[in-house]
Amino acid sequence: MKKIIVTGGLGFIGSNLVKFLIAKKYFVINIDKFTYSASKYNIKDIKSKNYKFYKLDINNREKIYKILSKHRPDAIFNLAAETHVDRSIDSPKDFVKSNILGTYNLLEAIRSYSKKNKKIKLIHISTDEVYGDITNQKIRSNEKYAYKPSSPYSASKASADHIISSYIRTYKLQAVISNCCNNYGPGQFPEKLIPKMIFNITNNKALPVYGYGRNSREWIHVKDHCEALLKLYLKGKCGHSYNVGSGKNLRNLDLVKKILSIMKKKSVKIGNKVKIKYVKDRPGHDYRYALNSKKILKHLGWKTKINLKDGLSQTIDWYLNNKKFFTSINKNFYTKRLGLKL
Ligand SMILES: NC(=O)c1ccc[n+]([C@@H]2O[C@H](COP(=O)([O-])OP(=O)(O)OC[C@H]3O[C@@H](n4cnc5c(N)ncnc54)[C@H](O)[C@@H]3O)[C@@H](O)[C@H]2O)c1
Repeated sequence: MKKIIVTGGLGFIGSNLVKFLIAKKYFVINIDKFTYSASKYNIKDIKSKNYKFYKLDINNREKIYKILSKHRPDAIFNLAAETHVDRSIDSPKDFVKSNILGTYNLLEAIRSYSKKNKKIKLIHISTDEVYGDITNQKIRSNEKYAYKPSSPYSASKASADHIISSYIRTYKLQAVISNCCNNYGPGQFPEKLIPKMIFNITNNKALPVYGYGRNSREWIHVKDHCEALLKLYLKGKCGHSYNVGSGKNLRNLDLVKKILSIMKKKSVKIGNKVKIKYVKDRPGHDYRYALNSKKILKHLGWKTKINLKDGLSQTIDWYLNNKKFFTSINKNFYTKRLGLKL
């Protein structure tokens, strides 16, 4: 049985990936520091014997080395990171620590371990945000597009990608990088747009939209992302980066309207306070991200299976059926507006 380490496996994408890999008959070792965005609710149904959890910061190089020596994994999927752009505007330090130094320490543990042991393939999860603002509507960034991050979050992710690329070239690290667009699906921390809107609609609260909601994002269901990550492990060429996108862009305002309309059709009670409310824009807010994902489509035979309409409907059902998810996490971390402390 192949063994895989997932870092950040209590987070949104990580917990979906952990369950996905266990279902595919992998032994999964989950390493997570358990920050505010981690949720035990997301892994409560895992009963498999092929699962082990370590509460640990990826900066703890010695303990990571020990885990590598004990379990001798075939691959590591690195998802451990600070992930909220607004939070990175208020306190960039945590992003430098986990996303840059954390990646560096993880790489050093892998490097020391690989000197005496078998090579481990690293699949590092990065973002479309590293390419910065793609304002020209005719352009979608491919993997050769220059990095031009705008926020402390995207800059920290870009830095990690560069460090990994240098380790690939210098130390022959076996690694692939995925640059994925915005994910949605079950178990996402409600500081992020989609679960926040679902939470506010079900709790009779206004729907805050930054600026005038014209900013455009590309959306992918987390399950499609998990399938892409497995493809990258099995077939991705070491030393390469792969964009992972659905090709489906939407303005934030249109997305919020879509969520509202789906929830109305599901006969969710819409209170009188549930109205779109334009709020102060995010400082440095990128107008548009859009990926050209032809490389993974053509070379690895991956494509999305879940369209946005069905995916959103299923996602809304999940949050409506799992209201305890919202109470299992700390409200103070998702009800206040962040990112305006300049
Ligand atoms: N969500 C998206 O739309 C999206 C899109 C592209 C890429 N990504 C990337 O995917 C990864 C996962 O994102 P997510 O949305 O699931 O985030 P998340 O915030 O839901 O989860 C992150 C997890 O990482 C853990 N973590 C943070 N710092 C850590 C550290 N130093 N050591 C160990 N664990 C640590 C947290 O406890 C949490 O469980 C991130 O690297 C993110 O940059 C996310």
